[in-house]
Amino acid sequence: MNKAFGNDSPELARYIHQIYQPEDELLREIRERALAAGLPEIQVAALDVRHLEVLVRAAGIRRAVEIGTLAGYSGVSILRGLPPDGVLYTLEYDPHHADVAEESFRRAGVADRVRLLRGAALDLLPGLSAEGPFDLCFIDADKENYDRYLDWAAANLRPGGVLLADNSFLFGRLGEPRTSPPSPGVRAMDAFHKRLAQSGEFRATVLPTGEGLAMGVRL
Ligand SMILES: C[S@@+](CC[C@H](N)C(=O)[O-])C[C@H]1O[C@@H](n2cnc3c(N)ncnc32)[C@H](O)[C@@H]1O
Repeated sequence: MNKAFGNDSPELARYIHQIYQPEDELLREIRERALAAGLPEIQVAALDVRHLEVLVRAAGIRRAVEIGTLAGYSGVSILRGLPPDGVLYTLEYDPHHADVAEESFRRAGVADRVRLLRGAALDLLPGLSAEGPFDLCFIDADKENYDRYLDWAAANLRPGGVLLADNSFLFGRLGEPRTSPPSPGVRAMDAFHKRLAQSGEFRATVLPTGEGLAMGVRL
């Protein structure tokens, strides 16, 4: 049987959200406070925020890195999946986003287990290597650098460590026919997928969420 890649049914989405309730009061408050503070609504989808927590729990992650904090919506969910001695390093270059995220981590009671690093990820990551190796790297920032973030993850995840990356369908642009030279985003995402899938460094897949959640285990 040739099964479809994902399912677009709004009724099915409603049913699953009703049963699993992926966004509780704490996460709803973060999303609404971020919107009121003028942040863009670009956090992971509600069901994806639950995916993160469940995957972190399933893989026994203790030391996690997130590239792209925004208001801490996904960060709080990752932290919920970590054990009490777990730690999340999360990287954000917009000072206003970082301020809102700090408040989120404080309200969620997880501030002592988060290191919020302010600055451009490509500037911060080389220094962060000294704290590694890591069990998880979650990429959710500027798409033009996904291939470079994967370079860092490949070098800094322990064997068995997990790579996750949101928006790996590049909002549908990745599958479009190529008529002109690819945009920087398409070029980077194409390089990202090829390395993740074909380099032999990871055993990888793409979970067909709305955005395409790429996932690999470091070999
Ligand atoms: C999609 S949002 C992250 C959403 C967040 N992971 C969540 O789901 O709650 C991307 C964030 O990455 C930040 N960002 C973009 N490019 C960056 C860079 N080069 N270095 C650090 N942060 C960056 C943006 O300011 C934005 O807050």
